[in-house]
Amino acid sequence: MKTPRKGIVLAGGSGTRLHPCTSSISKQLLPVFDKPMIYYPLSVLMLGGMREILVISTPRDLPRFRELLGDGSAFGLELSYAEQPSPDGLPQAFTIAEDFLAGAPSCLVLGDNLFYGARLGETIRAAAGSGGATLFAYHVADVRAYGVIEIDDQGAVLSLEEKPPHPRSGYAVPGIYFFDERAPRFAAALKPSERGETEILDLARCYLAEGSLRAEKLGRGTAWLDTGTAESLLDAGSFVHAIQSRQGLMIACLEEIALHQGWLTKDELRATAASLGKSGYGEYLRRIAD
Ligand code: DAU
Repeated sequence: MKTPRKGIVLAGGSGTRLHPCTSSISKQLLPVFDKPMIYYPLSVLMLGGMREILVISTPRDLPRFRELLGDGSAFGLELSYAEQPSPDGLPQAFTIAEDFLAGAPSCLVLGDNLFYGARLGETIRAAAGSGGATLFAYHVADVRAYGVIEIDDQGAVLSLEEKPPHPRSGYAVPGIYFFDERAPRFAAALKPSERGETEILDLARCYLAEGSLRAEKLGRGTAWLDTGTAESLLDAGSFVHAIQSRQGLMIACLEEIALHQGWLTKDELRATAASLGKSGYGEYLRRIAD
């Protein structure tokens, strides 16, 4: 039987672009409207059916993540935690995760990326079910701040470049990556780039070289937001608020996703709701459970 794919959330870094907000707390613990930022990437892994998840953060911040999320049982998950002593590159997530993965394929999602849209779960599950490596491609107004991917009409990857001054396409690579069980080995062999970090696109190139890299466009009906600056953080919060107040349904309510996946019972939701007091999130859990 195939080993189930495991999830990794990378939630380290120094968040310098958000100082002083992040001088004493992790960026990925800041609220995006009504819940901590890390709930959003976690929700994506859960929609993809992943229950065994490793949260990686700095030695300073990891205890706060543990305090917030515990062993994961409140969300029907099995959570583990690991430190990244310094932010030496995204691929380091896989070397840190090697023991946790124990030969399983994985999906890495960045702790500051927010995804939302119709059939997102389906898209994630499809990627999770394929071999080799899968990246997504998402059209943005200005790609120069991102990894940029060029693909042909058949979906073959033509080029990958990190933050190019003269991009070859309008498609960015969002912070969600699927790799097979060889990722820790490939990651360990990567050399730092000119900016002194190992690069996730170099890891993807290991798969490109052997013809096992897939890329899939995330359609315009999907929202991909990042939260790296004060403006983008406010935009993300406004986006979540606008959708939630219109629909009366929450984005990234982890307990609700777990209920739909059959990982939690309504009684378990009620118990969590009771512990959340009078917050809107707690009210919402009560409403769903009843
Ligand atoms: O958001 C998507 C982009 O993320 C991709 O398009 C790029 O290809 C990818 O390199 C990355 O670019 P960023 O410039 O956003 O990377 P940044 O260094 O800001 O790191 C992204 C998040 O990961 C951030 O919340 C900090 C965290 N991080 C980063 C590094 C390098 C870690 O936790 N550890 C690390 O070692």
